[in-house]
Amino acid sequence: MCGIVGYIGNREAYPIILKGLQRLEYRGYDSAGVALYDGKSIQLCKTKGKVGDLKKKCETSIDTTGSLGIGHTRWATHGVPNDVNSHPHFSNSGDLVIIHNGIIENYESIKKELLNRGYHFKSDTDTEVLVNLIEEIKINEDVKLGKAVQIALNQTVGAYAIAVFDKKKPNEIVVARLGSPLAIGVGEDEFFIASDASPFIEYTTNAIYLEDGEMAVVRRGKDVKIFNIKNDKWVNPYIQTLQLNLEQIEKGGYDHFMLKEIYEQPQAIRDTFRGRLREMEGLIKMAGVDDNIYRFLNARRIVIVACGTSWHAGLVAEYIFEDYLRIPVEVEYASEFRYRNPVIFKDDIVIAISQSGETADTMAAMKLAKEQGAFVFGVCNVVGSSISRLADAGAYTHAGPEIGVASTKAFTTQITVLTLIALKLAKEKGKISTSEFHRLLQELQQVPTKVEKMLESNKHVKQVAEVYKFATNCLYLGRGYNFPVALEGALKLKEISYIHAEGYPAAEMKHGPIALIDEQMPVIVIATRKGHYEKVVSNIQEIKSRKGKIIGIVTEGDETVKKLADHVIEVPETTDSLSPLLTTIPLQLLSYHIAVMLGKNVDQPRNLAKSVTVE
Ligand code: M6R
Repeated sequence: MCGIVGYIGNREAYPIILKGLQRLEYRGYDSAGVALYDGKSIQLCKTKGKVGDLKKKCETSIDTTGSLGIGHTRWATHGVPNDVNSHPHFSNSGDLVIIHNGIIENYESIKKELLNRGYHFKSDTDTEVLVNLIEEIKINEDVKLGKAVQIALNQTVGAYAIAVFDKKKPNEIVVARLGSPLAIGVGEDEFFIASDASPFIEYTTNAIYLEDGEMAVVRRGKDVKIFNIKNDKWVNPYIQTLQLNLEQIEKGGYDHFMLKEIYEQPQAIRDTFRGRLREMEGLIKMAGVDDNIYRFLNARRIVIVACGTSWHAGLVAEYIFEDYLRIPVEVEYASEFRYRNPVIFKDDIVIAISQSGETADTMAAMKLAKEQGAFVFGVCNVVGSSISRLADAGAYTHAGPEIGVASTKAFTTQITVLTLIALKLAKEKGKISTSEFHRLLQELQQVPTKVEKMLESNKHVKQVAEVYKFATNCLYLGRGYNFPVALEGALKLKEISYIHAEGYPAAEMKHGPIALIDEQMPVIVIATRKGHYEKVVSNIQEIKSRKGKIIGIVTEGDETVKKLADHVIEVPETTDSLSPLLTTIPLQLLSYHIAVMLGKNVDQPRNLAKSVTVE
């Protein structure tokens, strides 16, 4: 989704903004732009394409000096990606300049009124409508920029994070948020504005995260004044010290963030355990669960809401919770749940899973569940994100920043957190014996080492990728715990290589997908020894009879599938419920290598955004 960067201080804004926009590239975008102000004239430069294209254009077409500036990466919603629709946008007078992440839903009716009052529009965007509404209010009501922004936002419906400045006020930027993240980096006599902290982490670790419904007037060399957009009340700024460091958001010698993040999984899973998995004491400690243990133990059912990869992690959790805890679990696409009038009970636990913690549909689903009295628990990666703050309680995955658009370590750490919760509750409820609990804890602790071992198969997976890189379709099959892994494997391939792929429960194949199988069709089958093995072997036979190409993900030492498959990739033995943490690794590597071989933009696949902050 769109990315916002701003700077006001004593340095040159342009290099800070440009680097900041590069850091936000991972969010997904199709055009970029920057507006710089040196106190005399505003320089505007924008283009369809990447930040690299913007840099070339700026450096040959504008004067890049100025210590106030705003920059933007746009993920098109209203209007095609082109230079004109790119942000920033000017108001008609040329005094106000805005950047915006989100959607103003009632922009058409506002636009109509503004057109009647003589305003004209260059772009097709809702954002240009907003900046002119602010201008109209500012002039008509003779108010300062901050007040005009506040009045305008109270007339809009939708979601936004905005930054706007006024040519007549060279020392301030006004920002606001509702439904889209916005952070303010607080330096010495200088302020940074960004969609997340990555653009300013090398300048300051002090940050203010605006809450939904808040706006701020950021004044050069002075302070940040925060207000509630609805009731105009002042809010005391809460300055957090960030734990993030530069290294975490750089590639560290890897060709792509995705590969780095795949390789970070052993450590990420260890970090997820840290302080929680206490094998010696024979317990799992999780504050968010411990503090609400009564609700968890008396829950009627668990409803999981999420999108994309996080939804797949939710599916794995469904198997784990039902297996160990024996309470009903429903896993819902947040986007469907929020609109389909779901039955929610007060004694439901709703678990919202989200890497970014900013996904609009997941947030809306949470709000609905909360309104109906359910207890909402968040499983997020990004600390301080909107979902983590909206939840009644939660647990972080502690995977560290995930920059590659294709989720990898987020998935495995989400499963890890959910497994910890399931085992903890199962133990507390007496649903599993102490010895089984201990056995599972031990198995769980060995997972990071087994993932490390799995990563050693990278070279072999690359050879397999070489064989199938020109496939136009792929089928992924798995059963039980590995059915969601099949879905996740297919999603990874689609996202970054643009090869059509489908994930199916292996037995479902006979009910349709088998018609697709011929000698051109690679079928990736997860056939680990503990998960309905014989049944999956039968499915493999069925594929073989139809000449499909079989890539088996098998347990080390497997001989049966080896005889049937065209290729096998071995995974270390583990208990069935933990196998997704291992079987998913070769599927991530396979999609990664195929995408690289096809020359695709692995970290920023076309049309995709890292955090989907609009519906
Ligand atoms: O940040 P979230 O986990 O809420 O994001 C959900 C999906 O947008 C995300 O998992 C998406 O499907 C990824 N691109 C998958 O790799």
